Amino acid sequence: MKKFFIKTFGCQMNVYDGQRIASMLSQRGLVETHEVSDADIIILNTCAVRAKATDKVFSALGRIRRAKKPDALFGIVGCVAREAGAHAFKRIPELNFVLGPQSYHKLPEILENPDARLLNIDLGGLEKFDELPQMSQSPTVAYIPVQEGCNHCCTYCIVPYTRGREVSRPFEDVIRDCKHAADTGAIEICFLGQNVNGYKYTDSDGKTYRLSDLIRATAPLPEIRRIRFTSSYPTEMTDDLIDMFRTEAKLLPFLNMPIQSGSPNVLTRMNRPYELNLYIDIVDKLRAARPDIQISSDFIVGFPGETDQDFAMTQEIARKIKYINSYSFKYSPRPHTAASLMPDQIPENIKAARLALLDDALNDIQRTFNESCVGRTLECLCEGPDKTGRHLVYRTPYMQQCIVASTDAAPAPIAAIKITAANKASLRGELAD
Ligand code: 5AD
Ligand code: SF4
Repeated sequence: MKKFFIKTFGCQMNVYDGQRIASMLSQRGLVETHEVSDADIIILNTCAVRAKATDKVFSALGRIRRAKKPDALFGIVGCVAREAGAHAFKRIPELNFVLGPQSYHKLPEILENPDARLLNIDLGGLEKFDELPQMSQSPTVAYIPVQEGCNHCCTYCIVPYTRGREVSRPFEDVIRDCKHAADTGAIEICFLGQNVNGYKYTDSDGKTYRLSDLIRATAPLPEIRRIRFTSSYPTEMTDDLIDMFRTEAKLLPFLNMPIQSGSPNVLTRMNRPYELNLYIDIVDKLRAARPDIQISSDFIVGFPGETDQDFAMTQEIARKIKYINSYSFKYSPRPHTAASLMPDQIPENIKAARLALLDDALNDIQRTFNESCVGRTLECLCEGPDKTGRHLVYRTPYMQQCIVASTDAAPAPIAAIKITAANKASLRGELAD
């Protein structure tokens, strides 16, 4: 029996793509292995968002080429495939296939013709969703892509190059996927997209559907207990979507809405042309709709030209909004982006110092919020046992991890958990009676 090995790097969209690839190979009779040396086909599903991510892929490729069986098929899919293109074959001559994020459904071609080299980095839009069979079983949290690509063209971001312009999937297709996920084990649905709240689909009768319509249509599914979406662009947080937080109890009180920087000058150079006051107004509206909502952000520090004063504004906005569960990154120049050509690139040591300061501030805010949860009882989703097998790992409505001492082999997927302790990274709790 032939075996496949797949390793996924990067964002949730990649995790979803990885699940689709694994499911497609399983349906063709291959079995998954976690040993490279045992595999007949090896796939790295890759991320190119920062240079470090791309470097990681090439060092993994170097290791794999020494460890793999001599005749194993070996290739990359995803954003590094699109970034590197044919150049990947030059760097790693053993590669058999290089398939971009919208062409991995072509993978069977290499199984049928293993002596050929397969390169496809086209931006085919929605083809991959149509060509792949449904997954036979859904994970507890079903990630459902609703759109792919991004039209915003932030000057630092390689995504518009690797994943292309925005394309929204037909409303009926997304709802069909949600129903299928609900029928096959999903408890939570997370709508996915690089610019998920930009979702916009007009059907043949001229009716336009937005993300709020997807949420409204999914909420009545009885199996689905929680709904969320990621990642949102601030100015596309329209009133109909904000209203969902008021009306749909299943929509979690948690939203990832990256601000990236708190400095108007940096935001302008990032080509994120929104006023900070507008961003704050949106947060206020969200809090009016759902008073307990928590917001998370992504931040980039050390963007070209960022001054100490600009950076201080980023720290200030982080404290003002009280972001939880946020991510912060050092700016990384990427090919095909305008910012990589800007003057005043910031030295690495300054980027590192700013990142450490921002992380300290974000950790403080997170710890304070986590501590404020102690004593509360929260409805949490069970993710399964931890590595020791002595605890169950739960996810709160605010996406915090909560550890509960339990060896229950068949826990309920959703449980009321009383929070008993907290630190910066996670919570501890017990089943509430
Ligand atoms: N350098 C650093 N971080 C980046 N991101 C995107 N592009 C870059 C880059 N060139 C970050 C942004 C985005 C997250 C997914 O990755 O913060 O929201
Ligand atoms: Fe990249 Fe997000 Fe900006 Fe789109 S909105 S260009 S995906 S950072």
